[in-house]
Amino acid sequence: MTLAVDPARLWNRLHDLAAIGAYRDEHTGLMGVNRLALTDTDAAGRALVKRWFEEAGLAVRVDRIGNVYARRRGLDESLAPVVAGSHIDSVPTGGAFDGCLGVLGALEGVRALDDAGVVTRRPIELGFFTDEEGCRFGTDMLGSAVACGRIPLEVAWALRDRDGKTVKEELARIGFLGDAEERVAAPHAYVELHIEQGPVLAAEGFELGVVTGVQAISWQELTIVGKSAHAGTTPMHLRRDAGFAAARIHLHLHEMIESGRYGADMRATMGRIEPAPNRINVVPGRTVCTVDLRNPDDHAMAAAERELAAFVRALGDELQLAIETRQTARTASIAFSGDVQEVIARHMREAGVHHRRIQSGAGHDAQEFAAKCPTAMIFVPGEYDGISHNPREYSTLEACARGATTLLRTMVTLAS
Ligand code: GLV
Ligand code: MN
Ligand code: MN
Repeated sequence: MTLAVDPARLWNRLHDLAAIGAYRDEHTGLMGVNRLALTDTDAAGRALVKRWFEEAGLAVRVDRIGNVYARRRGLDESLAPVVAGSHIDSVPTGGAFDGCLGVLGALEGVRALDDAGVVTRRPIELGFFTDEEGCRFGTDMLGSAVACGRIPLEVAWALRDRDGKTVKEELARIGFLGDAEERVAAPHAYVELHIEQGPVLAAEGFELGVVTGVQAISWQELTIVGKSAHAGTTPMHLRRDAGFAAARIHLHLHEMIESGRYGADMRATMGRIEPAPNRINVVPGRTVCTVDLRNPDDHAMAAAERELAAFVRALGDELQLAIETRQTARTASIAFSGDVQEVIARHMREAGVHHRRIQSGAGHDAQEFAAKCPTAMIFVPGEYDGISHNPREYSTLEACARGATTLLRTMVTLAS
């Protein structure tokens, strides 16, 4: 028997979920998704997917960091489960696929097992994890990091958004502060299906990717304090311009990359720059900005962080500014299990799917599970140069179904 997911059902679910938090992008007119973690829209998305889990006859539990698991019984309930999951929160300018494909693809896999009357030896657990994006509370992979033991529950609960609301308060407010134990016992294996979010697979004509690992990620928030002043009357040499300092840091990051000192794959982004008071004729007295560094090489990443810290110190002295740096997230480069990669690749070969190995540029819940059990991921190519964290994010029905069917077959092999 060849097991496969129902493409139309997967596609419909992806679109039903994307309708929650849907918004029209004011610049492009495209429909995007805004389901920032622990907001009312996230709560509505959670409720829908939880209901789908229940309708599939799965035993649902919510843990103390708001992760939601759904368990399908195995023939031997004493064995550790195979876990397949991802996230359903989004960046504020997201698309329909990031995270959701992995959760709904796994759900459709379980539905296909039901339709075929297959019971696996091991239980299968589906999961979606709290605030994978890290966009609201500052730390990505938050729920899976707590589940897998990297971040203590109390630390995660105490994180605050820009309005001062804590993770714990918001979990309680939206009704997802569960009582299940948040630390997972080691699963037998973990697999995650995800849209690639980059251009590689489509550009090279591949139908799917087997993910080899995830590069290191470093997030910092810089608060630069200078002196606000009049734009017309304050001579340039007397200014303590916090906005100018942010620009200098941003430029320096690009110089670091262009130098090649940190390898050809280093990336740096200043995604948030907030000068205050943010008015045309006022020198910014204060600027908050963020730095997102990525590097597949841990040593190169650490060296880049040191250079940035030294530059920021020297700049503060030069411009007479106080610059405070807060590390909000930091993960090392992760290598996925060769064995799980091989199970995935074998199913792709058997189905005649043109595939390649690929390292992930984005962070994923799988990187947390890699610390607990053999783990790997499946990538589905994206359209439009693989654009993601953007309303234009898109993959085809065929590609999504191909990825979900590979996930299904991988889950069955691992659970047998
Ligand atoms: C998660 O989406 C990331 O920032 O890589
Ligand atoms: Mn994601
Ligand atoms: Mn994302």
